[in-house]
Amino acid sequence: MMREEKSGFAQGSAFLEVLAGRKPPHRPIWLMRQAGRYLPEYREIRQRAGSFLDLCYTPDFATEVTLQPIRRFGFDAAILFSDILVVPHAFGQKVWFAEGEGPKLEPVTDLAGLQPLASQIDLERLASVFTAIGQIRSALPADVPLIGFCGAPWTVASYMIAGKGTPDQAPARIVAYRDPEFLQAMVDRLVDGSVAYLSRQVKAGVQALQIFESFGGALPPALQMRWSIEPIRRIVAGVKARHPDVPIIVFGRGTGDGVVNYARTGAAALGLDWQFDPGRVDAVLPVGLPVQGNLDPLALIAGGAPLDEAITRIMSAMGERPHIFNLGHGILPQTPIAHVERLVERVRAGDAR
Ligand code: CP3
Repeated sequence: MMREEKSGFAQGSAFLEVLAGRKPPHRPIWLMRQAGRYLPEYREIRQRAGSFLDLCYTPDFATEVTLQPIRRFGFDAAILFSDILVVPHAFGQKVWFAEGEGPKLEPVTDLAGLQPLASQIDLERLASVFTAIGQIRSALPADVPLIGFCGAPWTVASYMIAGKGTPDQAPARIVAYRDPEFLQAMVDRLVDGSVAYLSRQVKAGVQALQIFESFGGALPPALQMRWSIEPIRRIVAGVKARHPDVPIIVFGRGTGDGVVNYARTGAAALGLDWQFDPGRVDAVLPVGLPVQGNLDPLALIAGGAPLDEAITRIMSAMGERPHIFNLGHGILPQTPIAHVERLVERVRAGDAR
């Protein structure tokens, strides 16, 4: 069989080397939410775009903000600027971002509520995302891979059911007990929709994928397999069947040592959150499994000696394991730019020693 050709892009990328299980001479770094409000150039475009969804759905704007952190910091990977909630939007659910309040959706709370939504994702509604991917790919340096993404079904379902972010995802979690038939129907649609969406992202030009399970830790271990790990495994299998060479990172936040169970999804690498002790990585995860993470975003805000120490601790704990340096959750708006510069410098210098 012909190897799937990525048209020469991202050759010699340290980020892709790590995802292939190798240890390149320099340790790659990128940051979750690296395009965002901590950057003045982002805030400017954000204001011009009007609403957050207009920013996501206008290819020129999405392209520009995706490239901003690459220009400024020279990160080893770019991530498509979009949001996990464009998927429910493409199923026909009402989604909006209330200023200063975060995402809002018209809640879907039972099987009857699921009925009016499309049974399959409407990728035409996301056409502008694929246009943006093409534009970003042409504008990026050839050795900087572009990461596509989606939310894991449980995390996305928790927003679809509650209609907003909720402490401990209680509205979705009670549904897992009371109405598993409904939750399964929603998750099944999200699995199929996510496979189709991620596959189109690959066709449009992304070189790697990340699945964000931000609320994996909100499920008791007994429910985690069915509602979190198994749906992610199905997405990974579905994408791999079409695009066997595109590596997938799975970020199961809040799962503690249970993060090891996410290796069963078929992920090329696991994202570690900031609560995970890097000193335990070899005790918890199979030898050689690539990992990504896991600096506390608050250490990056604090800066100074505590930041330097946290960086060193992570880098030495990873030892010989293939490692992509990243935060243990998204960068926060209050983060000083100088601290991000310092971080990139330290990660590069640390490996040169
Ligand atoms: O990483 C990147 O730079 C790519 C873009 C990206 C965004 N959201 C942009 C964004 C990615 C990968 C996401 C994923 C996402 N979105 C997740 C999973 C990761 C995580 O953080 O746990 C979740 C749960 C969401 C849902 C979401 N979108 C929330 C809760 C919020 C509000 C939070 C906030 O900081 O205001 C958003 C809005 C959002 N998505 C912003 C950005 C840059 C901020 C909106 C703004 O600029 O006004």
